[in-house]
Amino acid sequence: MATSRLCVLFLVCSALFAEEVKLEEKPAAKPVRLFTEDELQRYDGTEEHLPIYMAVKGVVFDVTLGKEYYGKDAPYNALAGKDCTRAVAKMSLDPEDLTSDMTGLTKEDIDSLDSVFEGTYKAKYPIVGYTAARILNEDGSPNEDFTPEEQPHFQTRDEF
Ligand code: HEM
Repeated sequence: MATSRLCVLFLVCSALFAEEVKLEEKPAAKPVRLFTEDELQRYDGTEEHLPIYMAVKGVVFDVTLGKEYYGKDAPYNALAGKDCTRAVAKMSLDPEDLTSDMTGLTKEDIDSLDSVFEGTYKAKYPIVGYTAARILNEDGSPNEDFTPEEQPHFQTRDEF
């Protein structure tokens, strides 16, 4: 009798302990792909067999679905293969705006950028990675504050 009580006690304790261990476990961070400028440039729509990528606010989107906008000879092809946050914010295709530099943007530009970022890019195109500006500090160390963008409506598969 005493042995069976001990057994029950042991089972309850191990179940509790297991639960505690589970709760203390940190969720593993999902790996993300880092794009260098050169790598991103490869996906500018020039090579027909490759997907088309562009970045806004350091987030790299697969915009192949919007080939009629971003593909070779398409009206917004200049935005492909690079981070063109400034161009999207200002709705400009001026070569000097084809950059991630946000210096001097007005509040209207930033509001417009955020609305296109959420309403068009995040809503329509799957995220495939991030530029160094988004995941690394200037000295190349990992940016501890980096959090991946949520895109719950996409069932993106893990590349790793
Ligand atoms: C005369 C000037 C322009 C006209 C008539 C025009 C027209 C359009 C039209 C009809 C769409 C499609 C909207 C839809 O059905 O979802 C569109 C989308 C878009 N336009 Fe323009 N546009 C002009 C200039 C620009 C400029 C200068 C930029 C610079 C960045 C720009 C960036 C975009 C972007 C990012 C989209 C979203 C494309 C997507 O869904 O991926 N547009 N534009």
